[in-house]
Amino acid sequence: MRFGVLGTGSVGRAIGGKLVEVGHEVKMGSRSAGNENAVAWAAEAGDAASEGSFADAAAFGEVVVNATAGQRSLEALEAAGAENLAGKVLVDIGNAIDPNERPPALIIPGNDSLGEQIQRAFPEARVVKTLNTVNNSVMVDPRGLPGSHNVFVCGNDEEAKAEVAAMLESFGWAGEEIIDLGDISSARGTEQYVGLWVRLMGALGTAEFNIRITPND
Ligand SMILES: NC(=O)c1ccc[n+]([C@@H]2O[C@H](COP(=O)([O-])OP(=O)(O)OC[C@H]3O[C@@H](n4cnc5c(N)ncnc54)[C@H](OP(=O)(O)O)[C@@H]3O)[C@@H](O)[C@H]2O)c1
Repeated sequence: MRFGVLGTGSVGRAIGGKLVEVGHEVKMGSRSAGNENAVAWAAEAGDAASEGSFADAAAFGEVVVNATAGQRSLEALEAAGAENLAGKVLVDIGNAIDPNERPPALIIPGNDSLGEQIQRAFPEARVVKTLNTVNNSVMVDPRGLPGSHNVFVCGNDEEAKAEVAAMLESFGWAGEEIIDLGDISSARGTEQYVGLWVRLMGALGTAEFNIRITPND
């Protein structure tokens, strides 16, 4: 399958690399083609990897991944082009944070979320929010942590969520570890977890951790 990965940071590179590793073709997108990180990533990832602008990557992908700075994701997706997102699964990993705040703080109020803003701005895209609750290394190597732990999906399109769950399973997440939280408004919950995540990172002294949900059943 062809994936367009929007974002040249640690998330874009980790997700892009894993998608190539599990057999997909990936074009990484940036504000301008020839981005230094993207060129280096493509050279290392091999023949199935390429790079270009946000629009190039979105046009290339049958599935598109948003791994851009959350506070700038709407701009990045505008540049990618609504016509290149229409009808496609759009995997949103972004957290919209104020980069000047320490510890990082969300810029979207609790009665909204980046996932919902993206779905409203691009109504023809099939937005699925996932993976934004873990560090990029855990996203693509969940078995690197001991034991069972969880990841979340939410979105308005059931088929799109099933496709994203299959992608997560190809990364090493077990089916029963993937919790479907419902429609895209549940992105409020996973995005607001960031405040706890950064404090856990401080307390634990590592970004490589995750939470396990233990229901009483
Ligand atoms: N780091 C993690 O482990 C982690 C974990 C969970 C969630 N997240 C979320 O995942 C997303 C990516 O995180 P990251 O750390 O990999 O990278 P990042 O530094 O947050 O974002 C880098 C990307 O954002 C784009 N960007 C920056 N300013 C922009 C603007 N004004 N207009 C359009 N695009 C702009 C950059 O474009 P260029 O390529 O042109 O520079 C680049 O592709 C973020 O939303 C973050 O909150 C990250």
